[in-house]
Amino acid sequence: MKHQSHLLHAALIMDGNGRWATARGLARPAGHRAGVETVRRIVEAAPKLGIGTLTLYAFSSDNWKRPWTEVAALMDLLRRYLFTELPKLKREGVRLHIIGRRDRLPGAVRAAIARAEWETRGGETLTLRIAVDYSARDALCRAAGQLGADPTRPAFTDALAEAMHSPTAPDVDLLIRTGGEQRLSDFLLWECAYAELVFTSTLWPDLTAADLGDAVADFRRRDRRFGGLSGDGSTLSQPIIQTQST
Ligand code: FPP
Repeated sequence: MKHQSHLLHAALIMDGNGRWATARGLARPAGHRAGVETVRRIVEAAPKLGIGTLTLYAFSSDNWKRPWTEVAALMDLLRRYLFTELPKLKREGVRLHIIGRRDRLPGAVRAAIARAEWETRGGETLTLRIAVDYSARDALCRAAGQLGADPTRPAFTDALAEAMHSPTAPDVDLLIRTGGEQRLSDFLLWECAYAELVFTSTLWPDLTAADLGDAVADFRRRDRRFGGLSGDGSTLSQPIIQTQST
C-alpha cells in the first residue's frame, strides 16, 4: 500500500503500563515490557485500518522525573525494540522517525535511532513516529525561535518538524489515550488542533488491534467540520468575509 494523503494520522498516548503491572504484583517495568507487545500489534494493524502515520508517545520530557531504574528500563526497551524490530519494519514498509530531543538520550539509544531511521528510509506503507524525550511546549518554543520573519502556518509547521528533528507530518486526525485519563499531557499540541479525541479505560498492555479498529470506526462516524458547517462543503471553502454590499 502506497502512502496517500487521505490516510489517517493517528496519535496514541500509551498509558496504563504501571497499573497493569501493579495489578499483577509485578514491578512497573514489566508493564512497559508488556506494552512493547502492544506496540507491535498496533504497528502491524495500523495500515490495514487506513492509518498512514502513527505517532506513539513513548517517553515525555517529564518522564525523566521517574525513578532512574524505570527510566533505564524504558530506554533499554526502546533500544531493543529498534534493534529487534528493524527487519520486520523494513519488510512491512514502515518508515521510522523519532520525534523529540536527542541530546539527552543514552548513546546506545541514539545509535539505534540513527540506524533504524536510515535503514527504514524507503518505507512507504506506514510512517511510524515515536516520541522520545518529547514535549510539545518545548518543540513549540524552539519552532517559534526559528520562525524568523515568515509567521505563516505552513512555515511554522515546517519549523516545528525541524525542532523535532523529523520531516513534516500531517495534522493528527485521531488521538487515542488509553488508561482512563482524559488529558493531552504535552503531546502534539499544535498538530492536534482539530484531532478527534478517543479516551479508553483499557490499559495500554491490554489494547488489541480490534480496539484500534473500534476507535477508527468511531472516528469515521464523526462529523468533522473544522469550524464550518456539516455536509455542505463549507469546510473546504475559502474564508468568507462579509462585505457591506449595496
Ligand atoms: C505510560 O504508562 C507509559 C509510558 C511512560 C511508557 C510507554 C512505553 C512503552 C509502551 C514501551 C516502550 C515503547 C516503545 C515504542 C518500544 P504509565 O507508566 O504512566 O502507567 P500508569 O499510569 O499506569 O502508571
